[in-house]
Amino acid sequence: MTLSKKSISGKSKETSHPHVLRFWRNGKEITLENIAPSRTLLQILREDLNSKGTKEGCAEGDCGACTVVVAQEQNNELVYTAVNSCIRMAHSVSGHAVWSVEDIISNDGTLHPAQSSMVKAHASQCGFCTPGFVMSLYAMYENYTKKNIAITPRIAQSALTGNLCRCTGYRPIIDAAVSMNQIEHSQSSQQNSKTILKALKDLKVSINEDWKKIKKGNPKAAASYALPQTLQELLHLKSEYPNAQLIAGSTDAGLQVTKQFKQFDHIIDLTQVSEIRAVEEYPHHIAIGAGVKLTHAFEELLKDRPQLKNYLMRFAGLPIRNSATLGGNIANGSPIGDSMPLLISLGASVVLSSVQNKKVKNREVLLENFYTGYRQSILTQREVITWIKVPKPHSNEILRAYKISKRFDDDISAVSLCINLSISNGKIAFASLGVGGVAATPAKAYETEKFLLDQPFNMNTLIKAKKILSKEFKPLSDMRASAGYRKQLLENLVQRFAVETLDTAQVQDKSSSGNDVFWMDLSSTDSNDLRFVKLKPDLSKSSSQDLK
Ligand SMILES: Cc1cc2nc3c(=O)[nH]c(=O)nc-3n(C[C@H](O)[C@H](O)[C@H](O)COP(=O)(O)OP(=O)(O)OC[C@H]3O[C@@H](n4cnc5c(N)ncnc54)[C@H](O)[C@@H]3O)c2cc1C
Ligand code: FES
Ligand code: FES
Repeated sequence: MTLSKKSISGKSKETSHPHVLRFWRNGKEITLENIAPSRTLLQILREDLNSKGTKEGCAEGDCGACTVVVAQEQNNELVYTAVNSCIRMAHSVSGHAVWSVEDIISNDGTLHPAQSSMVKAHASQCGFCTPGFVMSLYAMYENYTKKNIAITPRIAQSALTGNLCRCTGYRPIIDAAVSMNQIEHSQSSQQNSKTILKALKDLKVSINEDWKKIKKGNPKAAASYALPQTLQELLHLKSEYPNAQLIAGSTDAGLQVTKQFKQFDHIIDLTQVSEIRAVEEYPHHIAIGAGVKLTHAFEELLKDRPQLKNYLMRFAGLPIRNSATLGGNIANGSPIGDSMPLLISLGASVVLSSVQNKKVKNREVLLENFYTGYRQSILTQREVITWIKVPKPHSNEILRAYKISKRFDDDISAVSLCINLSISNGKIAFASLGVGGVAATPAKAYETEKFLLDQPFNMNTLIKAKKILSKEFKPLSDMRASAGYRKQLLENLVQRFAVETLDTAQVQDKSSSGNDVFWMDLSSTDSNDLRFVKLKPDLSKSSSQDLK
């Protein structure tokens, strides 16, 4: 964790930025003028608003020292989320309510429960991480305590996946979060939410007026930080300014600012485009708007496929999932991105939209055909990903998704493998495998799928399949994993799939060596609660020769 002075003083050389930044903070509207497009929320809090409680540690979304809470109106309710202010563009909170650690203490100096519970649980030592933890607790207070939902240690652990503490240790911090269950909140906090909702609506009117004025006076300057509200507006802007930097959650794009010290002169931010912030349900698929935050997108995917919880909850940490979008993950196109192998295995497609001759054009492609090379795709400069269409589960679907990374939480995959089969009369009637970390792009395992089709669903078939899968790809060695390890992982993950999905008798039948066999304990429905248990003695005596 290094302190990066350069990154917090990175003001743009440009002097005139027409967009007034308006947001709600601590009971009043904050209005900031002349904020360069690439300045981050952390920078304006610390430098312009002199709120130095929010810290900068890594400046890349990893440590949580910069955590603040933002709230946005959705369906007439306030949605509170903890986010990393270090990589979030300042203008992205236009029209939001924002809380930093200074804002939650009462006027008379009484600590907020998120603060007093940390004090009582002795949950801070050097204190550098503490403002970030307090703000994650504050989001929990709004989302659980105030709604009378108990915070369990598991919920607290999951909500704190984006916060690192190097000296206290996590147990007292989790205790602090859980102890908020004892707090009774008052009616006045509900009235407060209503006041904020009303303030945000008024703010929106002022922001729309600002926007109209800028567009009229200086249309080019309007794109310096454009926050289109409709899809039409977004596509027209992208067509007019194809070189402008498109951003969504800025959890990838923001790192170009904080780590490569890049300054974007023109940004088009798609996160307020109402059409693509929605999830729509159809008889055979769900359509997830490209601007939908991962937290929401994953909730929707889990409705049909709850077994994916463990995989999806391991995507970064909660503050990243609260900002990042599904469209951003796909567009970024990292070969080790997590959503793509899964979406490929589910047969998902992406809709790409643009404006041509003043008309909106859409084209739809299967995700596996979207990528053309390392971080390259068929997306043209005037196009935007608008929808991700995910087919509903087919009958007898057997689906498993695996991510192997060095850390359990908040880490990028070395390899991921998603296997989606459907079985009919004991034979494999459908096979779709998405793989990450083994090629220049997220990939589909065509050869393995071809082999699997019409084969009996048994251990022999899967043993052959794992060999074919590991030969199908030529992974690279890099700092995350060697090529050999990646190939071995592919085999091992098919083996794990076999152990999890075939009945015990078949696995026993194929066991022979005498070593202990460790089996994932699937009895727990809480997917964060992964435990490995030793197999029953009779099964572990015979063992896993053929499984190796
Ligand atoms: C600490 C940390 C942990 C992370 N962990 C993971 C992880 O576990 N797994 C993983 O896969 N990724 C991870 N990431 C990477 C990142 O969070 C994801 O790629 C995320 O989904 C990007 O989405 P975004 O909305 O923030 O995109 P942005 O950063 O806003 O944009 C990324 C790129 O996509 C383009 N873009 C965005 N939306 C669209 C659109 N609708 N149409 C066309 N182009 C678009 C932008 O122009 C930009 O070039 C991590 C990042 C950080 C900082
Ligand atoms: S400073 Fe580390 S996450 Fe923002
Ligand atoms: S208290 Fe020192 S890093 Fe957490």
